Amino acid sequence: MKKILITGGAGFIGSHVVRRMVNNYPDYYIVNLDKLTYAGNLANLDDIKGKKNYEFIREDIVKAEAMLQLFKDYDFTYVIHLAAESHVDRSIANPIEFVMTNVIGTVNLLNAARHAWDGKFEGRRFYHVSTDEVYGALGEEGFFTEETRYDPHSPYSASKAGSDHFVRAYHDTYGFPVVISNCSNNYGSHHFPEKLIPLAINNIKNSKPIPVYGKGENVRDWLWVEDHARAIDLILHKGKTGDTYNIGGHNEWKNIDLIHLLCSIMDRKLGRAAGESAKLITYVKDRAGHDLRYAIDASKLKNELGWMPSLQFEEGLEKTVDWYLANESWLNNITSGDYKKYYEQQYVKR
Ligand code: NAD
Ligand code: DAU
Repeated sequence: MKKILITGGAGFIGSHVVRRMVNNYPDYYIVNLDKLTYAGNLANLDDIKGKKNYEFIREDIVKAEAMLQLFKDYDFTYVIHLAAESHVDRSIANPIEFVMTNVIGTVNLLNAARHAWDGKFEGRRFYHVSTDEVYGALGEEGFFTEETRYDPHSPYSASKAGSDHFVRAYHDTYGFPVVISNCSNNYGSHHFPEKLIPLAINNIKNSKPIPVYGKGENVRDWLWVEDHARAIDLILHKGKTGDTYNIGGHNEWKNIDLIHLLCSIMDRKLGRAAGESAKLITYVKDRAGHDLRYAIDASKLKNELGWMPSLQFEEGLEKTVDWYLANESWLNNITSGDYKKYYEQQYVKR
């Protein structure tokens, strides 16, 4: 039985990846390692928690000794590394946390795997999940390709860029079997409501202001999270060692247009008059260093591995809204306690 380590599996994307691997590969033994920070939530995986080929370990990737011991205890064939601090606004408030988890944590994993695998790399793979934000910002034209020069602007993207460089350095220096993907903005179920789409859904539902940074003109390329999980599965098994793959939705939206679409879906779902939710739109102070536009050229992934996004955005957004409305207790559990403090600091006191 192949043993697969998935880090950050209790988070948004990680939980979709864990679910997919546990359900689709009964002959793999999946170990989900997660520190359970504010963003990690085992309720995301309630549906698979009793499965025979699944185990959860609560641990911190920043603890070097613990990572060395983990790789001694388990003979992992593959690692899918998603654990990270992931929110740009939090990185602006507290960059150190991002350096610790995203850079040091990644190097600890690389190191532990390299020692445990001890030069016997055949059949093994260390898959590092990264972001398009490492490429910086685009103007009105053009796309990020795998050759685009790194130009990160936020402490979050700088820390992800640092981790990508270490992963490539392990490949180039030790012949370590890595693969990297850089993906655009994901959306879907189990998304923590500090990020734009779930935060807006939650606020519209509760008739609270929808905070739009700056003029709402920034553009993001949105991808259905299960399409990302499918791409990760494909790249893990069929991607070329040492290569990078860009993953994107071919789906660019200005924030303000996206919010208007979301408002109209919410009006319909909540039985409100057309235009009612849009009255909640509130322009607030812009994010510092706010990247104008992200857009991915995912043709390498399409041409080499045949991957394409599966869902139209309108359909995906509708499914996402349905999930949040049907899972009120999930949302309410998360938006109590610490979340309230975060919200105060980020949106009320600034
Ligand atoms: P998330 O914040 O929802 O989840 C991160 C998970 O990592 C959480 O479960 C958290 O508990 C865990 N974690 C954090 N620090 C840890 C530590 N020190 N040790 C162990 N576990 C720790 O993030 P996400 O949005 O699911 O993103 C997952 C990965 O995908 C990240 O690497 C992120 O950079 C990348 N990514 C995200 C997006 C996106 O749109 N969300 C797009 C491209 C790439
Ligand atoms: O591009 C991939 C990245 O996408 C991932 O690497 C990150 O982990 C993920 O958080 C996401 O980063 P963004 O900064 O693009 O996502 P966020 O949801 O925070 O913001 C999306 C856009 O909406 C961005 O232009 C900022 C804006 N925004 C965000 C929030 C939270 C608002 O206008 N108001 C808000 O309240």
